[in-house]
Amino acid sequence: MPRTKSSHRCVDCGADHAKWAGRCSACGAWATVVEVPDPVVGGGPVGDRTAVPFHEVAATLHPVMPTGLAELDRALGGGLVPGSVTLVGGEPGIGKSTLLLQLAASVSGTGSRVLYVSAEESAAQLRRRADRLGLALENVWVQPETQLSRVVEVVAELSPELLLVDSVQTVAAPHVTSAPGSVTQVRESAQMLVDAAKQRSMATVLTGHVTKDGNLAGPRTLEHVVDTVLEFEGDRHQRLRFLRAAKHRFGATGEPGVLEMTGQGLEPVADPSGMFLADRQVDAPGSVVVPAVDGQRPLLVEMQALVAPSRAVTPRRATRGVDAGRLSMLLAVLERRCGLRVLAAEVYASIVGGVRIVEPGTDLGLALAVASAVCDRPVPHDIVVCGEVGLAGELRQVSQLGRRLDEAARLGFRAAIVPATVGDLGGRLGLRRASSVAEAMVAAGLGGALRSAA
Ligand code: TYD
Ligand code: MG
Repeated sequence: MPRTKSSHRCVDCGADHAKWAGRCSACGAWATVVEVPDPVVGGGPVGDRTAVPFHEVAATLHPVMPTGLAELDRALGGGLVPGSVTLVGGEPGIGKSTLLLQLAASVSGTGSRVLYVSAEESAAQLRRRADRLGLALENVWVQPETQLSRVVEVVAELSPELLLVDSVQTVAAPHVTSAPGSVTQVRESAQMLVDAAKQRSMATVLTGHVTKDGNLAGPRTLEHVVDTVLEFEGDRHQRLRFLRAAKHRFGATGEPGVLEMTGQGLEPVADPSGMFLADRQVDAPGSVVVPAVDGQRPLLVEMQALVAPSRAVTPRRATRGVDAGRLSMLLAVLERRCGLRVLAAEVYASIVGGVRIVEPGTDLGLALAVASAVCDRPVPHDIVVCGEVGLAGELRQVSQLGRRLDEAARLGFRAAIVPATVGDLGGRLGLRRASSVAEAMVAAGLGGALRSAA
C-alpha cells in the first residue's frame, strides 16, 4: 500500500504550503489554501511506469477535430482535440456566448452531437439569439443548469462529442461548499469537467469572465487545470476581436484568429491588414504604416501620433494600443539623439483599429510617427517602417522581417525603411537602410527637422 501523504497548495497563486493556513503567505489571498494529495506517493498509477526506448516512441499526433470556424481553428492550430478542455476567457460582452453558439452550430453541422450547458442564459434566450443569427442547431442539446452533477448525468446519457459550458464561474461542483465564482469553486468545477472530458474523449470548451486587469478567478490554477487557454480580446465598443492561444498543450501558440462582431454574429476577417488600412488618410502627418507580427501572423497597422505644445509641468501623454513606457523611451531618444523638442510637449499615440501591439519591431514606426507629427510633414504613403530602437538611437533588426515585408508588398507598398544591418531579402520592396533614428528620418523625408533642430 502506498503511503498517503498530502500537502497544501494555494489555488490562487499555486504556492505550496507544508500545512493548512487561512491565508496564503505567498499571495496574501484568504481561504485559498486547500489540501492536495501528493501525486507521487498517494496518486494512482500514471500510465505504465516502464521506460521505453526513445526510438520506439510513436510520434503520433493528437487527432484534431476542425470546428469549421476558420479563425477559431487558426488560433487552435487546426481544431479541437477530443478529450481536451479549452477555456475561452474574455471581458463580459466581448462575444464569448456568441462564439460558443456559432461553434455549436458549426460542429453539429458536421454530424457531431453537442451539449450546450448554459448557466447564465435561459434556453429561450439562446434560441432567440440562434434564430437572430440564422443558426440551425439540429444536433445541439441545451441544458440550462448550474449544477455540474446533473451536467455529468446528462453527458452520460447523451454522449456528446462536444460539451460547451457557459460559464465556468456560474457552475458549481457538488462537493464544494463555497459560492460559484469563488477560486475554489471555479478550480474544482474545471477539474470535474476535465475529468469528464478525459474519461469520455469529449472535447470541452468553457467560457470564463476576466476582469479589467485580465484575471480569471484563481487565474494560474485554472490555467494549469485546462489544456488550452484562448484569450478573446478586443475593444467592446469596436467590432474587431482577437482570439489568441495563451496556452496550448497540443500545438504552438502561434497565429491569432481575427474576427469582426457584426449583426450576424462573429465573422472571420480574412485580411486584417487590409481592414486596418482601409480608412487611412494618405499623406497625413503623424501617420506611419508598420508591418508588425502577432505570434506568427503578419499584420500591417497604422501608427498615429499627435504632438501639441504644453505649458504643464508634466505634459499630457496618452496612448492606445501602444506601450506607454516604450513611447516615453522613444520621446527621450528623439529629444536627446535627434534634437526634436518633444519632452515638453503633449504627445498622443495610437494604433488605428483597436489593435494592441507591444513588440519592439514597431519602435521605429512610432518614433517616425512622432517625428512626422512634430515637423508636420507626412512620411511618403507607400513606405513601411520596421526596426527596434536602442537608447543610443541605433536601429536593431527585428524578427521575421521577410514575412513582414511580404505582407507590405501584398498590400501595395513599394519601399521599407529597415535597420542598416539587414541583408538582401530578395523581396519585392525597395529597402532603405538606416543605422539610427536620425538616418531613418532622412530616409523618410523628415531630414529638414534634423537640420532646423541642430
Ligand atoms: P455575448 O456573446 O453575449 O458576450 P459575452 O458572452 O462575452 O458576455 O455578446 C455580447 C455583445 O455582442 C452584445 O453586446 C451584443 C453584441 N452582439 C452583436 O453585435 N451581434 C450579434 O450578432 C450578437 C449575437 C451579439
Ligand atoms: Mg455570455
